[in-house]
Amino acid sequence: MSTQIRYAVFPVAGKGTRFLPATKASPKEMLPVVDKPLIQYAVEEAIEAGAKNLVFITGRHKRAIEDHFDVEPELERLLASKDKEALLEMVRNTVPPDVNCIYVRQGEPLGLGHAVLCARPVVGNQPFFVHLADDLIDAEEACLAQMARVFAAHGGSVLGVEEVPHAQTRQYGIIDGEPAGAGLRRLRGIVEKPDPADAPSNLAVVGRYILTPRIFDLLADTGAGAGGEIQLTDAIARLLREEPVFGHEFKGLRFDCGSKLGYLEATVHYALKHPELGTEFRRHLASLDV
Ligand code: G1P
Repeated sequence: MSTQIRYAVFPVAGKGTRFLPATKASPKEMLPVVDKPLIQYAVEEAIEAGAKNLVFITGRHKRAIEDHFDVEPELERLLASKDKEALLEMVRNTVPPDVNCIYVRQGEPLGLGHAVLCARPVVGNQPFFVHLADDLIDAEEACLAQMARVFAAHGGSVLGVEEVPHAQTRQYGIIDGEPAGAGLRRLRGIVEKPDPADAPSNLAVVGRYILTPRIFDLLADTGAGAGGEIQLTDAIARLLREEPVFGHEFKGLRFDCGSKLGYLEATVHYALKHPELGTEFRRHLASLDV
């Protein structure tokens, strides 16, 4: 099996009810952090890690995502006629020309595991990335690129993990692992959204995965789990009995943009870093009497 990972799967069929009414008619993945939608950050991370084929698992009301990554000749003509070169580049380069976008519909929202299984006809017998756009990670080296290095060195599947407060284990897949090198664990177990009292650790899976294709066989044979959904975590729990699965404690700052507070924190973080806005925005924050 090649150690190059060329496929990235983006499950984007979820409803985004936590952001209603903003997400009533437009996808939560299109929520902007400053001036880029969440899904654009996601795609850029996967491309930095080497992905050439982007597989979006979409659903109803997600057309805006396809439009975002498509060419927009009218807008391009308009920007060209006004000599707005920088904007034109930005609009043209939502994906580079050597990268393909592929869209697969997930008819029914049966869970994250089911969404990943929908990618099987496209991905086939190759290792692949899974990226959940809700988890926005700012890192010097993209989180998926860090994980791709672990995959190249060790083989096996790799999950992005981070310590969370014990009280929050109910929100995540939680791993049980033994040390396997700096920032690396080899998984002994994994459980989806355990109560703090039952959690095997406080190392939580964030929305980053490198999975071997064996996961598809296991997903095809996994019934509903936590929350009545087909859980990716349950299939990984079976995978680790057959193959090594690693947890990589990534270097970087994660924002949970599935929550309003995390989304606001991300907005402030990226606004402060923004080349055009940063200085003024910092001044504005300093002037607030809160
Ligand atoms: C999903 C996964 C969970 C993981 C989390 C990361 O849960 O099922 O294992 O820890 O993403 O964001 P969700 O947030 O979709 O409920």
